[in-house]
Amino acid sequence: MSFRSVSCGSVSQDHIDQEIEVAGWIHRRRDHGGVIFFDLRDSSGLLQVVYNPEDREVFSIAEGCRNEFVIKAKGIVCKRPEGTVNPDLPTGMVELNASNLEILNPSKPLPFSLDEHTSAGEETRLKYRFLDLRREEMQRNLRLRSKVSQEIRKYLEKNDFLEIETPILTKATPEGARDYIVPSRTYPGSFFALPQSPQLFKQTLMASGFEKYYQFAKCFRDEDLRADRQPEFTQLDLECSFVNSEDIMKLITEMIRKVFKNSIDVDLGEFPVLTYKEAMDKYGSDKPDLRNPLQFLEVKELFINSDFKVFSDPANSDDSRIAALRVPSGEKLTRKQIDDYTDFVGQFGAKGLAYIKVIDVSIGKEGLQSPILKFIDDKILKELVVKLDCQNGDIVFFGAGKINVVNESLSSLRDLVASDLDLLDKDWAPCWIVDFPMFEYNKSGELTPLHHPFTSPTSLDDIEKNPTETLSDAYDVVLNGTELGGGSVRIHDSEILYKVLSLLGIDKNESQEKFGFLLSALEHGCPPHAGLAIGFDRMIMLMTNADSIRDSIAFPKTQSASCLLTEAPGSASVEQLDELNISIDIEEEM
Ligand code: AMO
Ligand code: AMP
Repeated sequence: MSFRSVSCGSVSQDHIDQEIEVAGWIHRRRDHGGVIFFDLRDSSGLLQVVYNPEDREVFSIAEGCRNEFVIKAKGIVCKRPEGTVNPDLPTGMVELNASNLEILNPSKPLPFSLDEHTSAGEETRLKYRFLDLRREEMQRNLRLRSKVSQEIRKYLEKNDFLEIETPILTKATPEGARDYIVPSRTYPGSFFALPQSPQLFKQTLMASGFEKYYQFAKCFRDEDLRADRQPEFTQLDLECSFVNSEDIMKLITEMIRKVFKNSIDVDLGEFPVLTYKEAMDKYGSDKPDLRNPLQFLEVKELFINSDFKVFSDPANSDDSRIAALRVPSGEKLTRKQIDDYTDFVGQFGAKGLAYIKVIDVSIGKEGLQSPILKFIDDKILKELVVKLDCQNGDIVFFGAGKINVVNESLSSLRDLVASDLDLLDKDWAPCWIVDFPMFEYNKSGELTPLHHPFTSPTSLDDIEKNPTETLSDAYDVVLNGTELGGGSVRIHDSEILYKVLSLLGIDKNESQEKFGFLLSALEHGCPPHAGLAIGFDRMIMLMTNADSIRDSIAFPKTQSASCLLTEAPGSASVEQLDELNISIDIEEEM
């Protein structure tokens, strides 16, 4: 015997006068003049179930039921009486006049209400994740996640991709984060690393002749977490042989477009291609939000001979820039807002935030308002107004200083101002970023790859003399200011890989030790290949318009990388540690 004859959400006027059985959770219980109403919820939706006091026995069971009890009800489907129809509910024309009630499982009172906009803090939601996931929003998000993965699979299978799983217990994969490591019992003192990505294995698969691989891969990175990062996350990972960057970009553009159309009925339109340099010059970011029409203009050369040191110093320094951000209708920003913006850019290391308000451009200097007017001579001011094409009502912000500080501070300000002044001019703006530098110097002055070391340089000519000038054959796909995915053409010649690794301070022996199997695979007839990985959780976060990546994952970790539901990580028993030859030595905190 089955639990139910029909699901709650599928009951319609076609069922009127029929006897049905339904099962689900009591979403909301209401008592109205001696009649008890349950909004009964299952995964298909809600159905109103009515208990009348005439049947005293059943009615008294109904009286004992509270929200979130799991029940089974039987009765006759009726048309709702005039005036009680609920047009907002798909089943709102009907109700179940119930004659039977079985409590399948009661529920303790809930720690928070399961409304759409629950007031519960995230900690409570994560601790009681099984309840949080009952909320409509989370149900919607995880349903969409499943639908999107189906659409992706459909697309890739149609394009002859093969789904292949790669190991979780493995060796370190360098993607720039710390590894999660797992001690080996059988090899005392040795450790597995959890993969930061399947990068090494998918390249090995190309050497094995699979040509088109994909996988929904779990990746693990012990790194500083933010709203769009999790320590354990899912990539849609893929790799192809005998392709170049254009092939991959074309494939992925088409795939993302199809998936958005088929899953949430969104036409993403064109994916413009920007070089890294263009993106940094215009937006100060390699993941610009192109829904935002504001752009930077470089005004460095105007201030080379200025007396205003705040601007002339960076104007005369190679590693500095002066970027202007003209904000139409920004004149209405208050002093307080501007002060807040100044504090905001300060977080990124900016020493100040110069600005000019344009009141009446036709009357020259008198038509401008700014604390820096007195420092700038009239000729420069005139040139500035022309160069920036200033219009009445504008405010222009300036960032002057080290390139990375100006880029970080002013690009964050660009996002904030657009949000405050409601400037976004479309809902979706994808783009590709290409021609990344192959390397950069990190804060400790070490050369590091911008992507990973297996990325192919576009030329070897200058790679040793001028590594940071060398570009890579890499591409990132960006959506609404979030890096959705990234990939590259790979180095398939082991000698070139040795060279790149040596520039990164990894000699031949260490290369062998770390990536010996990949080097060997490259040396045994590995075809040219390229690929990419999309942050699948991020993709769902964007599609659901969620504020946090955690809302696109069933059981996420907190910002401090713990699981409040299971209380992981936890301790290991003395026996377990003994078997692993591990002793714990933690100084007690004072
Ligand atoms: P990358 O490190 O750029 O590339 O990762 C690819 C995409 O994965 C997502 N992502 C994350 N999502 C959630 N939490 C995280 N901590 C996190 N880190 C990354 C991002 C990112 O764009 N092996 C290469 C891909 C390749 O070259 O094919 C790689 O892992 O959306
Ligand atoms: P100060 O000389 O520090 O009083 O700065 C004069 C003006 O320039 C103030 O309006 C500051 O906010 C602004 N300012 C100072 N440093 C910078 C900077 N690095 N970038 C942009 N504006 C700045």
